[in-house]
Amino acid sequence: MDIFQKCFDFHDADAVKEAGLYSYFRTISSAQDPVVRMDGHEVVMLGSNNYLGLTNHPEVKRAAQDAIEKYGTGCAGSRFLNGTLDIHIRLEEKLAAFMKKPAALTFSTGFQVNLGVISCLVERGDVVYLDKLDHACIIDGARLGFGAVVKFNHNDAEDLERRLAVRDPKKGALIVVDGVFSMEGDIVNLPAIVALAQKHSCRVMVDDAHGIGVLGAHGRGTAEHFGVEDKVDLIMGTFSKSLASVGGFIAGDERVVTNFIKHRARSMIFSAAAPPASVASVLKAIEIIEREPERRARLWENTRFMAEGLRALGFDTGESQTPVIPVVVGEDRIAFVMALRLQQEGVFVNPIVSPGVPPGRAMLRTSFMATHTREHLTRALEAFAKVGREVGVIS
Ligand SMILES: Cc1ncc(COP(=O)(O)O)c(C=O)c1O
Repeated sequence: MDIFQKCFDFHDADAVKEAGLYSYFRTISSAQDPVVRMDGHEVVMLGSNNYLGLTNHPEVKRAAQDAIEKYGTGCAGSRFLNGTLDIHIRLEEKLAAFMKKPAALTFSTGFQVNLGVISCLVERGDVVYLDKLDHACIIDGARLGFGAVVKFNHNDAEDLERRLAVRDPKKGALIVVDGVFSMEGDIVNLPAIVALAQKHSCRVMVDDAHGIGVLGAHGRGTAEHFGVEDKVDLIMGTFSKSLASVGGFIAGDERVVTNFIKHRARSMIFSAAAPPASVASVLKAIEIIEREPERRARLWENTRFMAEGLRALGFDTGESQTPVIPVVVGEDRIAFVMALRLQQEGVFVNPIVSPGVPPGRAMLRTSFMATHTREHLTRALEAFAKVGREVGVIS
């Protein structure tokens, strides 16, 4: 049997391409701004995680350029060996202070944080509890660990409690949840999770990829939003969304983060350090986030405008409570058709189909930036109204 046979037999993407509906790996030839250039046309970008609009900020770009001048373009090795620069340490100190946690540790991507952290913490004999809609890298991190994996129904504290009630207290237990769920845009019921963790002696880790910079009075994310920061043991964040770059971090107790994880997380120890330009960009992005809380206020104004606008048109926006707003359309084909037609009408959205979402719950994932103007958003709503009526999703 040829191990490649499955590749030769794989036709899922071909079928969508043949129907002229393929809208993945689209090529953009400009910065990740509220309006981007694609195939010579301008389109309003409603598919980016650049929530605070910092990826093309002049100060952030200048910081990256200065770092390249000083340190070059790469670290040529792992943090563990030759790849730790003084700016990695400065960023970790800054992140710990920003997140109000004793310690922080950076990784080269957010995906690698979850792979490395969860797999090294959840050893044989331990248990990790996951929300069924947790991000893929949480699931993969749990798979890489040698402990047991227990999944509970999405954002369902009662279901989690039923599972915790039968737990063996002699086994170590970690609950890992997204702060903001990346497709549905709903916020985890963190007060209920931390209460259960206390009752059942478990530790809690929150992946706040979509919460940091967005939620909380200071942008510290979901735990700040709910006022439960001291009850969350570990907070994971990524640099690829509000923090305008690429990379990720874990923040928490020094004995856990800088003593254990730093010496055990294989995805950090055996992978090259985040490059100087990325590290310097994040340092500058945090400075701007602290200095300009009005950016977050604008993001929320835009979010409210679009959530109300889409709902007023008759679209189903699910349980969204954040700048991630799904437009649930049902069948996969409708999502593909709408994404393509919206692009033709000058709006970029991401179609999300099964297995990314349950069958029959295909959606267009929209996400918003502080830097979208009312004119951009009004144009987008007009396109949604036109295309939604064409395909019969709204009347
Ligand atoms: C919830 C969540 N966690 C982790 C990640 C991975 O982050 P990164 O893009 O930094 O690898 C993502 C990115 O899509 C995400 O949405």
